Amino acid sequence: MILDLVRVTEAAALDCARLMGRGDEKAADQAAVNAMRKAFDYINIRGTVVIGEGERDEAPMLYIGEKVGTWADDAPEVEIALDPLEGTTICATGGPNALSVIAMGSKGSLLNAPDTYMEKIAVGPEAKGVIDLNKSVKENMQAVADALGYKIEDLTVVILDRERHQDLIAEVRSYGARIRLIGDGDVAAAISTAEEDSGVDMLLGIGGAPEGVIAAAALQCMGGDMQGRLKPRNEEEITRAAKMGVKDINKVFTIDELAVRDKVMFAATGVTDGSMLQGVRFFGGGAITHSMAMRGKTGTIRYIEAEHHFVIEDKKYVFKR
Ligand code: FBP
Repeated sequence: MILDLVRVTEAAALDCARLMGRGDEKAADQAAVNAMRKAFDYINIRGTVVIGEGERDEAPMLYIGEKVGTWADDAPEVEIALDPLEGTTICATGGPNALSVIAMGSKGSLLNAPDTYMEKIAVGPEAKGVIDLNKSVKENMQAVADALGYKIEDLTVVILDRERHQDLIAEVRSYGARIRLIGDGDVAAAISTAEEDSGVDMLLGIGGAPEGVIAAAALQCMGGDMQGRLKPRNEEEITRAAKMGVKDINKVFTIDELAVRDKVMFAATGVTDGSMLQGVRFFGGGAITHSMAMRGKTGTIRYIEAEHHFVIEDKKYVFKR
């Protein structure tokens, strides 16, 4: 099944990568959504999207609650968190680390998070168990440094480059630590904390809540750790969260509450070149994709390079499915 998932992320990546650097975020996102939605039709699951492109009234495809897969009688029932193009701006500008991602698991394996913001902290396996969002930034940084056997100033923290993070950035700098500021893509950034040789030790700051759940699923498979606290922007988002079962909006979700390790699997395909995955590389009549597929239960991480061949339809190259 994990390879089937990769087929879905590959399809999305192939179609949106065509639009890399074209400056049209919407078109790139739409291409990824269309391709991913279509690819799901071939997968033998009874899938329900729990994290997707938005609420039904605002997203015509891959909306929260949409049923995907064959829905054959013998197919397993699963919940899906997806982002056909994580990093729309990255793709539109040809920057690094745009991905197509899916996390999947049996019922109850993924937090049904509303489409709002989430305060996040993420670390790799060596610092598992030492982070606590209820503690201060300094306490968390010190705990991670101790776990890694570093001084606090040896840490490298990845933070989304946003106005809302000015105080956080200044605080992290005041401890002498190094920062990798990123324009977008905090799923790839969270994953990088668990990658050997990425040079990144922790992720801090506020990003999308859906991306938080997807990153937690990936980190569960890699043995990392993460916590998240919803940061709604208005009353409507608080009400939406309550409807989805979040009674205490200030609750800190542990990684086990964001994604259940033994139940989840994760697949990602690189759209643009990144630290862990290469982007889609086109050649005459085809393209090469680079993907990762992971299972929480076993912790197996597979890297898959695939060569795809296109057919010509309506004078255009089309991905042969
Ligand atoms: P999109 O692919 O939806 O554009 O998300 C990119 C992203 O950078 C995420 O990785 C991150 O969680 C979120 O946007 C941050 O939101 P904002 O751009 O509003 O700060």
